[in-house]
Amino acid sequence: MFTDLVLASAHHLLVFLLAAIIAMEAVIVRPDMSGEGARFLSRIDAYYGATAALVLLIGIGRVLFGLKGWEAYVYNWAFWLKMAAFVVVGLLSIRPTLQIRKWRKNADEGAFTPLPEDVAKVRGSILAQIGVFALIPVLAATMARYGY
Ligand code: HEM
Repeated sequence: MFTDLVLASAHHLLVFLLAAIIAMEAVIVRPDMSGEGARFLSRIDAYYGATAALVLLIGIGRVLFGLKGWEAYVYNWAFWLKMAAFVVVGLLSIRPTLQIRKWRKNADEGAFTPLPEDVAKVRGSILAQIGVFALIPVLAATMARYGY
């Protein structure tokens, strides 16, 4: 019971942190972003990767060591939809990460002005991530109650 409580608490805290990080990226990525903004963004993006990895680890921990047992999830369609949504968010984050690395490199090299079309593409990917991310708690609540 205690292990489950610790895992569930960590899961929720990490998931809120991940949501905050994605929201920060959405706020920072703007056409008038400064070089300092780009460097900050690249640090935030590293935290994004680390937090997503921890969410995955703790999530797997909940599947394996949670109260219901792994069988409650591996045969649960809502669990797999949730995993698919998590993967889609991860895929949608690839383009921003690659672009953020380039921006950071440019910012380190001196004069920095992001191209408006690059900003628009990255913003599109971030907004799409927010949309798919919002489905995950719904699928989580579904998998905890139905789906098996
Ligand atoms: C791939 C990573 C993830 C795994 C393996 C995972 C796994 C789990 C497991 C096993 C539970 C327990 C469900 C139960 O009580 O039966 C859970 C609950 C939950 N997860 Fe995740 N999760 C992951 C990512 C996420 C993400 C990214 C979010 C949010 C965007 C999220 C939101 C939730 C919520 C809100 C609950 C509580 C559901 C409820 O009790 O109503 N999870 N997760």
